Amino acid sequence: MSTEEIKQQVLSRISTFPTIPVMVSKLMGLLDEKDTSFSRIADVIKYDPALTANVLKAANSSYMGFTRKVNSLTEASIRLGTKWIFKIAVSSLIGSQLKRPVAGYDLTAEQLWKHSMATALTTEHLCNIVKVPDKWLIFTAALIHDMGKILMGDLISDSFEKVQNFADSDHISFQEAEKRLFGMNHAEIGALVAEKWDFPEEIVRCIRWHHEPEGADEITQSIDVVHIADALCLMQGYGNGREELRYHPNEGSISRLKITSSDLELVSTRVLSSLEELENMLEEEKNAEENMGPDNKPVGRW
Ligand SMILES: [Fe+2]
Ligand SMILES: [Fe+2]
Repeated sequence: MSTEEIKQQVLSRISTFPTIPVMVSKLMGLLDEKDTSFSRIADVIKYDPALTANVLKAANSSYMGFTRKVNSLTEASIRLGTKWIFKIAVSSLIGSQLKRPVAGYDLTAEQLWKHSMATALTTEHLCNIVKVPDKWLIFTAALIHDMGKILMGDLISDSFEKVQNFADSDHISFQEAEKRLFGMNHAEIGALVAEKWDFPEEIVRCIRWHHEPEGADEITQSIDVVHIADALCLMQGYGNGREELRYHPNEGSISRLKITSSDLELVSTRVLSSLEELENMLEEEKNAEENMGPDNKPVGRW
């Protein structure tokens, strides 16, 4: 297959790729508003039974340390706070799209998902240190930054060794090898998916440039944060396959954000516990039906 044919195949697959629930954009919009009330967040979530069940499950998880069970979304929102509601909502909405094995990258479903969650949580800690606004937008961008691997993975499933060997022999990165062999790399494909989902332009840019922030016409803080978070997670071995083991954060990104090595160490330590927390909250309960009533409807009341 020629490079052009592969590119055309990718583009046609994007048009059939599942759509992301509009709820993600709605939640991002709500969190940008200063006076968002818990009930407004609950108003958005309540239309999705599975998501409602996940939020109730998280609010009642042993991690929260409450003995009294909550049964309504409003109570759960008050208990969890906007920060956790957003993380749980977006992670469970996007998780259903990302939790799948990616043969072409030698990634299990668990590895891609863990890498995505770890990268998103790393951006949150980085944003707190460098005081970057738009942290929910950045969190979402980080969560889906490698989405292009799902599409690309199908195409390169039997060419993985070829890409790896090409990268090794030419001393280029895996994503550069992808581009030379297939005409596009997974970052470009991911950006096209985010465009298809009508995500904000800044999210599209963060995904497009997550491996090469200096390729962007305008290098924004969001792009640098997502790039550094991704690199840190790859270096720490959070769910990476074999393609990016030699990856390091771009020096320019570190100096533009004025991040010190002790900041990076601090972030790395914090991410480990945040990841455990989020995983525990999202973990399937043995008795998942506990929060669901007849007809698979949540039992939350308003
Ligand atoms: Fe990537
Ligand atoms: Fe990544």
